[in-house]
Amino acid sequence: MKRQRNWIPPGVDMTRPNPARMYDYYLGGYHNFEVDRQAAEKVMEVLPHTRALSQANRAYVQRVVNFMLDEGVRQFMDIGSGIPTVGHIHQIAEERGLPVRVIYVDRDPIAIAHARMLLEGNDTAAAIEADARDPQFILNHPETQRLIDFSQPVGMLCIAILPFIPDDDEVFDLLRQFYAPLAPGSYVCISHSSEEYASEALRQVVELYKESSNPGRLRPIATINAFFDGLELVEPGMTLAPLWRTDATQADIDALGGFSDYTGVGRVPEK
Ligand SMILES: C[S@@+](CC[C@H](N)C(=O)[O-])C[C@H]1O[C@@H](n2cnc3c(N)ncnc32)[C@H](O)[C@@H]1O
Repeated sequence: MKRQRNWIPPGVDMTRPNPARMYDYYLGGYHNFEVDRQAAEKVMEVLPHTRALSQANRAYVQRVVNFMLDEGVRQFMDIGSGIPTVGHIHQIAEERGLPVRVIYVDRDPIAIAHARMLLEGNDTAAAIEADARDPQFILNHPETQRLIDFSQPVGMLCIAILPFIPDDDEVFDLLRQFYAPLAPGSYVCISHSSEEYASEALRQVVELYKESSNPGRLRPIATINAFFDGLELVEPGMTLAPLWRTDATQADIDALGGFSDYTGVGRVPEK
């Protein structure tokens, strides 16, 4: 309780579980309440691998961000960021002593309220409440304009957010809009649950949430690949996230109870 008192944003309802805070709990973070932990424990009763899967996903994000930092990228846009804790972009860069500017974007006002509180006093990272389906609002937002210099390479992340935008045409259109201002040498990472690798348990969850206010969906690998049209995929190309630039094997994935997030990193070519 002591830890929480210092960071509860004004107006945030502590009596209802929030998916971003539940995710923080799976990751082993501190930005969750008792109500989130209880809800998360219930999910883990049904899907016991949830914590391992979330941690594998976060480890993947960290490899991608480190790759982009190695390539000289010093500014990032994280679309559908959730709460940026437990080793997120600005923290990774800070640990490496690298100066970066980061704009975190999420449509969940609670995630953004927590993010803002976390980033208080940090004038090189900001969180904005916005819908990815409105790229122009995000690209032209005063905080984006303040932090991102579009004449220089940008690292753009869309990690596990596009499943929540069910219409394919809408996703292709919003990606086109986000890619348009990116300077050559920018990198884009998209990670998306694939139909081909979804476990039976995941399929059941997708089915269960179909009628909810925030349904997610699986997509075929061919569609996920097509999201990278116009970009040059870096090695090793499209893979399951735990296999991207690690020594992990299919046996490690099986130990996680399966992993469906298919992913790649694309480079914006010279125009
Ligand atoms: C599964 S979480 C992933 C969080 C983070 N990217 C990660 O991988 O750790 C999906 C996030 O996408 C956000 N989201 C879903 N649809 C969105 C939309 N249309 N615009 C902006 N954010 C969205 C949700 O609020 C949630 O925080």
